[in-house]
Amino acid sequence: MDLLDGRGMLNEEVIQAGVGGRWAVRVMECVTSTNDELKARVVGETPEVLFAEHQTAGRGRRDHVWEAPPGQDLLMSVACRPSAEAAQWPRATTAAAVAVCEAIESETPLAPLIKWPNDIVVNGRKVAGILAESCSPGGRVQLVLGIGLNVNRECFEPFLSEVATSLRLALGERVHRPLDREALAVSLLERLAVRLFALESGFPAILEEARNRSALLGRQVRASVRGVRVFGRAIDLDREGGLVLQLSDGSRAVLTSAEEVRPAGEQGGFWK
Ligand code: BTN
Repeated sequence: MDLLDGRGMLNEEVIQAGVGGRWAVRVMECVTSTNDELKARVVGETPEVLFAEHQTAGRGRRDHVWEAPPGQDLLMSVACRPSAEAAQWPRATTAAAVAVCEAIESETPLAPLIKWPNDIVVNGRKVAGILAESCSPGGRVQLVLGIGLNVNRECFEPFLSEVATSLRLALGERVHRPLDREALAVSLLERLAVRLFALESGFPAILEEARNRSALLGRQVRASVRGVRVFGRAIDLDREGGLVLQLSDGSRAVLTSAEEVRPAGEQGGFWK
């Protein structure tokens, strides 16, 4: 059976040539999860990226399943050891979210926003998700960052079609052929190389870019803070990228990325 249904596999050589020596690039047809594959490998001096056309056990945050039709989207993970100390690695989700937006902006006329902490949305629908994990294969701590970007997919399961989209669907009549996945991949890796290695001194600038592209700041949201449901207005990102809420009693709460948030009034969500 042809997993790719006649579609060409991502071209490893083209992506490698595009990023030069900044990343060691691998493309595989089928893996369980690109995150799991890279978590088992000790990364060397050169950061690594693995793309897969199909995942049999693709994961999102909170152990949700991430599914994508083979050969149409970007399913990728990068493994690296950022120069910042490990305590600052949680900043990587914000850095990656900015990098994903920048890549979409450079390759399309779309205006993506960050739905804190790890979703990228276009026209209110999710187009990408980020899953940051750390691991220590061989005793060496490293960061693995998975990104699922819906590029050329033209249909979604009924339960997702209201809340998810792809770049191609969002572009509508403006494109008449599949988007160039290799060009997007190169652009994304270039942006990631800049942002992931600026987690320390470059983080204020990353935060500013994240604030400018926030889908939540200024909006009423409902959230679960350490198990307690709260309502408030999202007013800022704190210095670590936490979401600052102004609650109705005038107090403030800061959400860490482990907590769940939704715009008030929005039913359901990408993950049911
Ligand atoms: C989320 O939205 O919760 C994060 C989704 C992350 C999905 C990507 S696809 C490539 C990489 N491998 C995985 O198993 N997950 C990430």
